[in-house]
Parts: sequence; C-alpha cells; structure tokens
Amino acid sequence: MANETYDNVTTDNRDGILWLTINRPKVLNALNAKTVEEIGRVFESALRDDGVRCVIITGAGDKAFVAGADINELATMTPVTGKFVSEQGQSVFLQIERFPKPVIAAINGFALGGGCELALACHIRIASEKAQLGLPEVTLGIIPGYGGTQRMARLLGKGKALELICSGDRIGAAEAEKIGLVNRVVPAEGLAAAAEELGKKIASRSPVAVRAAIEAVNRGGDMPFEEGQLLEATLFGLLCSTEDMKEGMAAFLEKRPAKFPGK
Ligand code: COA
Repeated sequence: MANETYDNVTTDNRDGILWLTINRPKVLNALNAKTVEEIGRVFESALRDDGVRCVIITGAGDKAFVAGADINELATMTPVTGKFVSEQGQSVFLQIERFPKPVIAAINGFALGGGCELALACHIRIASEKAQLGLPEVTLGIIPGYGGTQRMARLLGKGKALELICSGDRIGAAEAEKIGLVNRVVPAEGLAAAAEELGKKIASRSPVAVRAAIEAVNRGGDMPFEEGQLLEATLFGLLCSTEDMKEGMAAFLEKRPAKFPGK
C-alpha cells in the first residue's frame, strides 16, 4: 500500500482501518475514469494487505462524499465509451461489494449519482446529518450505470427505488435513514469517529467469520432462498474447521476476550 501512488484519492491506514478518501474537492469529488480506476487499485492492494482489517470510504472536504460521475467526461460519451464507462464502474463497485473485509461508507455530504452508487456498493453506510443522497441521472437523460438500479431496488424494494430513480430527487440524511438507504445518521463532527468505532468493533471480531458473513449475505441474496441456506450451512460448516472458531469458543468458556488469529 505504501508504494502505491494515486492522484485522485488518498489512503491512510490507522490501526488497521484503511481510510480511502476521494479527493477532487473542486468538482465535489466527482468520479472520472481515473478515479474509478484508482479506487479499484486501492481495493486490489488492500485485499493482499494483512494490515488492513476494514476500509472506510469518505470524500475530501466538508461538502461532498461524491457528487456523481464526472459530468465533463459523461458529456462526451458515445455508445461505445458509455458502455465501457458503465462496465468499468460496475466492475470496481462489485469488487467493493464482494470485498472480504468490511467496507463502510462515511457519507459526509452530497452522495449523488455515482456517489450514491458507491455508497450502495459498501457493506454499511453511516451518514452525517448534512448528507444528501439521490440518483439524479434521469435529469441528465441517462440512468444510473454503476449498479445503482440493481442495488437500490434490492436494498429499498422496487417502489421506493423507482420513486427515487425516476424522480431524480435528492433526499436528506433523516429520510435516507427512514427508508433504509443509510444505516445510521450522526452529527457531522462525529461522523469519522462513528465510522471508525464501528470499523474497529468489526475488526476485533473473527476475520474469517466476518468474511463468511459478507459472502453469505451478498451471494445468498442473489440466490433462491434454499440455495442461500445451503451456502450458509456450507460456510457455517467450514468455519468449524478454523482456529478462529476454536479460539472464540475457548475464550467464551474461559471467560476472557478472544484473540482471533484470522485463520
Ligand atoms: N461532475 C463534474 N463536476 C461537478 C459535478 C459532477 N458530477 N458535481 C459538481 N461539479 C462541479 C461543478 O460544476 C462546480 O464546478 P465550478 O466551480 O467549476 O463551476 C463545482 O463542482 C461545485 O459545484 P456547484 O454546482 O457550484 O455546487 P452547489 O453547491 O451549487 O451544488 C450540487 C452542488 C451537488 C447540487 C451540484 O453540483 C450538482 O447538482 N452536481 C451534479 C450532481 C449530479 O447530477 N450527479 C450525477 C452525475 S451522473
């Protein structure tokens, strides 16, 4: 991670919690192709880095998480480049969704279009009370192209998702919490601490169990119920072979905190 260089994002590993900050504040952290590519590289490198236990994504400055895909780039798209742009974003966001360590979005301001889709790809979303979320693509004559139509409908149900996608409306943090678009809303000044506290708590649990939980929920959600249950039972069985399982059970019986080796 230390050797990687990025122009549009910054990374900072604080005690195993990797902060990934989208850093183009002049355009409210809008995602151009290079930024999406850099996000993908950060996750590739974090995957191999045992020093990373959790990733928190946020936006630079106090105004925006990410205000969408970069409209300067979008405006020049042809059918061929448009398909490429969509597929590139879909592929990187799928990499985030399937990341085997927890990924938390710390939504510090506008999370619109691709920014809302980025947050949707994260496992957990915590929002500042100043956050505003929405998928305004139809106001530009396009639709969400980074998985947003699929993830929002799966998270909120078809009706709410279609209302937000077809109106292009922005909603505030409180409304987003009410409909389940974000897990929790906190005061702006407490956002980083709240995200870090949750990240540290999850990082203290068994990494192999957390990884299996993410896989069961993500993959299982796209399967018929019985196959999802089979996946759950298989992962459950697999975990019974791990050192983490032995340690977790022993620690409980010996009335001491568990120290998971992550194996
Ligand atoms: N792509 C490229 N540039 C963007 C951008 C985007 N998605 N969102 C904001 N910017 C730029 C603005 O063009 C402006 O640049 P300028 O200073 O050179 O004029 C700068 O960021 C600041 O934005 P501004 O619109 O002046 O801020 P605001 O507080 O008045 O409004 C928003 C904030 C988020 C409501 C408004 O910027 C907006 O609607 N952005 C586009 C959101 C969107 O449609 N995203 C989906 C894209 S698919």
